Amino acid sequence: MVCNQLIHVRVRSQRRKLFSGEKFKSCGICVVIQLEVNQDSVRALSHTPASLHINQTQHCKLLPGLVSSQAQLCRTNLELMQTIIQAAREVKKTCQKTFADMRWNCSSIDIPIDAPKYRPDLDRGTRETAFVYALSAAAISHTIARACTSGDLRLCSCGPIPGEIPEPGYRWGGCGDNLHYGLVMGSKFSDAPMKMKRSGSHANKLMHLHNSEVGRQALRDALVMKCKCHGVSGSCSIRTCWRGLQDLRDIAMDLKTKYLSATKVVHRPMGTRKQLVPKDIDIRPVRENELVYLQSSADFCLKNEKLGSAGTQDRQCNKTSVGSDSCDLMCCGRGYNPYTEKLVERCHCKYHWCCYVTCKKCERMVERYVCK
Ligand SMILES: *[C@@H]1O[C@H](CO)[C@@H](O)[C@H](O)[C@H]1NC(C)=O
Ligand SMILES: *[C@@H]1O[C@H](CO)[C@@H](O)[C@H](O)[C@H]1NC(C)=O
Ligand SMILES: *[C@@H]1O[C@H](CO)[C@@H](O)[C@H](O)[C@H]1NC(C)=O
Repeated sequence: MVCNQLIHVRVRSQRRKLFSGEKFKSCGICVVIQLEVNQDSVRALSHTPASLHINQTQHCKLLPGLVSSQAQLCRTNLELMQTIIQAAREVKKTCQKTFADMRWNCSSIDIPIDAPKYRPDLDRGTRETAFVYALSAAAISHTIARACTSGDLRLCSCGPIPGEIPEPGYRWGGCGDNLHYGLVMGSKFSDAPMKMKRSGSHANKLMHLHNSEVGRQALRDALVMKCKCHGVSGSCSIRTCWRGLQDLRDIAMDLKTKYLSATKVVHRPMGTRKQLVPKDIDIRPVRENELVYLQSSADFCLKNEKLGSAGTQDRQCNKTSVGSDSCDLMCCGRGYNPYTEKLVERCHCKYHWCCYVTCKKCERMVERYVCK
């Protein structure tokens, strides 16, 4: 029988095991069920209910969007999985905070992975996808590294004591974040979907792997010396120091800078294999510290479900700002509507001896603006 028509059917994560790679031939129509593995496990996990507590291997089956090696990691290390779920929620919060002043405000991370018909921007290889993968990889390793320190994970503990001899007046002590363990276990989980043979396009996998590594590099750069003072009445004559990670918020700001200067790449043969190379003419390999993307983004001005753009109508803008949250930029020149908001604040506070403060409540009207 000759196939005269080829139909691709995409099957989303849940049913994938049943159909992967099966081929049906019937009535001259060839149906290839194409595997669509969800590469964005973090987004799927961020939707799990806060009450979910992973303490039995059966619970691993309840988790959405895991590929087989991730599910295996879950079964062999339940505590680690609980930490990763916590990280996924952190990613969502941090992404939305970091992009609150931008047209794209990371709202697409809220869209469930299996939402019907809706193909959000994060499934395309855009600049926004690049940021989310980098942040996810950084956050997972960050949360694991910190969980080692706080004693939440039994298989790891404090990071190693640094090798160098501290300056006079300083000494190593305390419990450093276990960056090494965080990076090893974090990449095992984060990169698993991209290491699968049949998952998405090769170009997308390379893009996600690269950006995840950029995220982890930003995390390595965020390992700083932290110290605590000791000595008579806080004289700080001696300091105990350890290596600790900066907050995820700071790492996200670093990655936002990289997002703004991300490089568009194409998937092209380089030597014997296809690689991602910058699209512009200057021939150079992709740099280790730059985020890369394959597809241009929408301008996110107008609502466009196909492109995953929520539009900026009704978003609040700032009339005095000159940045991305200014009414000009946020509203894409469409103009804005003012409205007044009543603010209730504490005021006329009085200190009473000893020791309390009483305040009155004052109301104040402020002018706010939303995009037309
Ligand atoms: C597992 O977690 C649930 C909370 O979701 C708790 O009620 C239960 O006692 C825990 N089981 C064990 C064995 O720790
Ligand atoms: C992001 O923008 C959309 C579209 O204007 C809005 O509906 C949503 O509430 C915003 N999300 C956050 C987290 O600010
Ligand atoms: C608006 O932007 C100005 C200048 O950047 C800033 O000082 C002010 O706090 C912002 N107002 C609001 C409501 O965010």
